[in-house]
Amino acid sequence: MEKFSKPQIIEIPKIADPRGNLSVIQEKDTVPFPISRIFYLYDVPADSSRGGHAHHIDNQFMIALAGSFDVVLDNGRESHRYTLNRPYLGLLIPPGYWRTMDNFSAGSVCMVITDQPYDESDYIRDYDEFKALMAPNPKPF
Ligand code: TYD
Repeated sequence: MEKFSKPQIIEIPKIADPRGNLSVIQEKDTVPFPISRIFYLYDVPADSSRGGHAHHIDNQFMIALAGSFDVVLDNGRESHRYTLNRPYLGLLIPPGYWRTMDNFSAGSVCMVITDQPYDESDYIRDYDEFKALMAPNPKPF
């Protein structure tokens, strides 16, 4: 699982079909963790920003099921912007990265698959606290 300790785009298998394409996400295969929870953002206003937090232990896999949006990941020292705009590409976000999603297109859907049940104590919601915690030993890009 070492190679999955960094943020990365993972291609989701696609079964191309003239009747319509099909993609499948299988735990420990397409996503390198057991699937515990799925949530999704929709009806997001164009100028909206979501996220704005990091996790202590939750691993997440984020997909633009429809439309597009950007994800900015920050390890406390540097940040990278990823554009998600295909339903067969997902962004793996290990714990320890502050994430912000913006630039949502009309009708976009952001689906997130995670390996932990919802637990507010797993969130770091204060950026200064996150920076103090992570910047001395930042997670890699
Ligand atoms: P939040 O994580 O702040 O949203 P985002 O990161 O997408 O901008 O969550 C918004 C609200 O939804 C907050 O009150 C917590 C609640 N929530 C749950 O109850 N269960 C969940 O699985 C998630 C992701 C959020």
